[in-house]
Formats: sequence, C-alpha cells, structure tokens
Amino acid sequence: MDLQLNGRVAVVTGAASGMGRAVAVELASEGAMVVAADLNLEGAQLVAAALTDKGFSCVAVELDVTSRQSWTALLAEVAAGIGAVDIVCNVAGPGAKTGHLDTDDDEWQRQVSGHLNGVFIGCQSVLPGMIERRYGKIINMCSFTAHGVSASIPGYGAAFGGILAYTKDLARFAAPHNINVNCVSPGNIDTAMTRDGWLEQPGALDGLRQNTPIGRVGQPEDISGWFAFLASDRAQHAVGVEVNVSGGQLLI
Ligand SMILES: NC(=O)c1ccc[n+]([C@@H]2O[C@H](COP(=O)([O-])OP(=O)(O)OC[C@H]3O[C@@H](n4cnc5c(N)ncnc54)[C@H](O)[C@@H]3O)[C@@H](O)[C@H]2O)c1
Repeated sequence: MDLQLNGRVAVVTGAASGMGRAVAVELASEGAMVVAADLNLEGAQLVAAALTDKGFSCVAVELDVTSRQSWTALLAEVAAGIGAVDIVCNVAGPGAKTGHLDTDDDEWQRQVSGHLNGVFIGCQSVLPGMIERRYGKIINMCSFTAHGVSASIPGYGAAFGGILAYTKDLARFAAPHNINVNCVSPGNIDTAMTRDGWLEQPGALDGLRQNTPIGRVGQPEDISGWFAFLASDRAQHAVGVEVNVSGGQLLI
C-alpha cells in the first residue's frame, strides 16, 4: 500500500528510542520529511544520520514535550528550515516503576506531565497552523493501561486514560477542520523502557510471551505501521479511533 506521504512534514516525539524511533523510520521510508524530536538530542541525531545515509529525509531537533517554550522553538525551527507541519506523532514519555503505595506526588506529576501534559501541549502547539491550512494528522501514543489493565503503575495508567479521553474529545473538535486525531494503544512492547528493570530480568521475556495470546513479545515495528497508516490520507475517515495492538493482551 502506497501511503503517499511524499513531501509531508512529520514531527515524531520520542524519536531517539523504541517506538518513536520505529515511527520515525517508518514515516521517513514512506517518503515523509521527518523531524526526529527528543530530549535526547544525541540519540535523535543518530536516528537522523542513519536515515539520511539511506537517502531518506530526517533532521534531529531537541524537544522537551512538557515545555510549551520548547515546542514553540521547535515549530519555529521547522517552519524556517523545512515548512509547515502536516503530521505529529506524540510518542515521547517516561517509564514508570512505582506502585499504588509508593507513588509519591512527584512521581505522579512526572507521569501526568511526561505523558498527558506533553500530548496536550504538543497538540495545542500545532493546531493553529493545521487549522489555518485545513490539513493535519495527529497520532497520539496511548497504551492498554488506559483501560485499567496496568500492572499497578497508577500515574502511568491514569495519564494514558487521560490521553484516550483527550484524543477523542480533540478529534471531534478538529475533524471539521480536516484534521484527523487518533491514537494507538500498544500492549507491552520490547523497548529500552520495558527492558529497564523488567524484561532484562531472567525469565521475564518468556513470561510475557506466555501471557501474550499471539505467542511472541511485541516489537516497536509492530506498532509503527499503525502510526504511518493513521498519518496518511488512507485513514481520512478515522476520527478519534483507538487502535489496540497488544498481541491479544487486552483480551486476557
Ligand atoms: N514499551 C511499552 O510497552 C509501551 C506500551 C504502551 C505505551 N508506551 C508508551 O510509548 C512511549 C514510547 O515508549 P518506548 O517504550 O518506546 O520507550 P523508550 O524509553 O524506548 O523511548 C522513550 C523516548 O521518549 C523520550 N522522552 C521521554 N521524555 C521526554 C520528554 N519530556 N520530551 C521529549 N522526549 C522525551 C526519551 O528520551 C526516549 O527517547 C512512552 O510514552 C511509553 O509510555 C510504551
């Protein structure tokens, strides 16, 4: 399927690692001009260099998704150097480890800020330009934890519950402006985030495989294609859709 993303300008947050990196690779290989945005500029630069070496279009820009100033600076840089933003994939976010009793206020705020505030500020920053040009695709990273199936990581799950509700509400507002807003909700995916303190432990990958009906652990590339499809005009009738991609984990 040709997604016809040639020449589209796409900002991908969290592009230095894991699913953000896979989304950046997917969009660039579909012809989009990708802005790989991350707090980790060095990581984003490596991704951009690997893509440009292959003849694809990608630049790295430092971004803290939780900062309005940082978004403003990124959009100014992109407008000056590349052009108006057509596509935003809000993928960045912090990992979580604390449970119901040991999540303190700071950690709760870090989760809500790093996920929900980041998505809100990102969407609100790009919307005026998209409305003016009557074109836009926004795809937010969500999670199966939005449905209360989190392994007791309360701030994380609550933040994604907020992202799901916000995505649907924004989708209804944006659709009359020819802007599609949707989200993708993965199950557990093998990335640096899940490796850290969990999947790197002996037996953890086998345990996850056994608890995933499709019989294998999800990889970033199992997710990135859904972002690319929702970023394309083939998905023009998708408004406020949540794509659940968990190898069946959500069915358990
Ligand atoms: N891995 C999973 O199982 C899973 C499942 C569902 C949802 N998610 C969510 O998907 C997103 C990506 O996760 P991943 O597993 O690819 O993790 P990852 O750790 O591999 O990548 C996360 C990236 O986000 C960046 N980042 C973090 N905070 C940032 C900020 N404030 N501003 C800019 N960049 C920031 C990091 O530098 C990193 O490059 C996260 O929001 C995560 O919560 C992960």
